[in-house]
Amino acid sequence: MYTRSLTAILLTTGTALAAPATVAARQAADITCPIVFDGRIPTGTELTYFDTYATNQIYNPDYVKGNDIKWSEILKFPTGEAARFDGTDHVPVEVTLSDKSIFQKQNGFRRAGLQFLKDAADGPGTTGVKTLHWSVKQDAARPLNLTHEYLNVWHEAADYSSNQIQFQAGQIIGKSAADKNNFKILDRSGKSLYSVAIDKTQWQNFAVKLDYPKNQVQIYYSVGQAALKSVAGPTSVNIAGGGQFQLGLLKKPTGSNDVVNSGYQSKNLNEGQIYGGVFLEDSADGCVSL
Ligand SMILES: *[C@@H]1O[C@H](CO)[C@@H](O)[C@H](O)[C@H]1NC(C)=O
Repeated sequence: MYTRSLTAILLTTGTALAAPATVAARQAADITCPIVFDGRIPTGTELTYFDTYATNQIYNPDYVKGNDIKWSEILKFPTGEAARFDGTDHVPVEVTLSDKSIFQKQNGFRRAGLQFLKDAADGPGTTGVKTLHWSVKQDAARPLNLTHEYLNVWHEAADYSSNQIQFQAGQIIGKSAADKNNFKILDRSGKSLYSVAIDKTQWQNFAVKLDYPKNQVQIYYSVGQAALKSVAGPTSVNIAGGGQFQLGLLKKPTGSNDVVNSGYQSKNLNEGQIYGGVFLEDSADGCVSL
């Protein structure tokens, strides 16, 4: 239904155009390019859907999360306005962190990251021209602690040596705290490609176009239900090295030179970030859904 405009639906059903404003606002924006990985959650999905391969056709049920916690305990379905590309057919999902968010033996991190089920280190997410879309919203009841460095969305190289592109929040370790309240999109060396203040109440919509043959990145952004606009690039960025996307929260510790394995994390963690409108589209021929 997301491919049909509200006007078209109203005309075919013969309904008067005096539809309530809320219906128009919740209608999903058109996705105009072929979807490569669809991370949107259909309305009516149960949380237990995410726990097993038998049910979960969207994300990898085994990675990347605490050893002793299930996705149905990590994820929540918040109420509130749908994200721009979700509309009425899809719902937002909140990724949360707790003291149980320790993956394997990575005692320094607290993490919960969603990986597209069909993504692979040498798969279609690593070739051609692809655009990753995501929307984020903050949960006032589970705020992030911006004294810490967070990785929120990234593409990790196949050899795990770096993240070609990283969407981050909080104080980046070793850098100035001046932009800790900003979302930052960085390249693998930590160079800033785009930065914008974290909005405490509204959806923030991002898209990153990855042109693998040209090694170029272009960034699109909007707030609320507004159409995306190009805000940075195309810029030369080394995005070679294959790998996979991940979306969620990876909270680094403070006071450590070995952030994977050690450092300070406060106890009784209860943090979360809401995601919506997650998908990867094929941007061959320059197509980007706005
Ligand atoms: C935020 O993190 C810092 C550093 O770990 C910690 O000292 C502080 O208590 C945390 N604040 C909250 C509200 O948890």
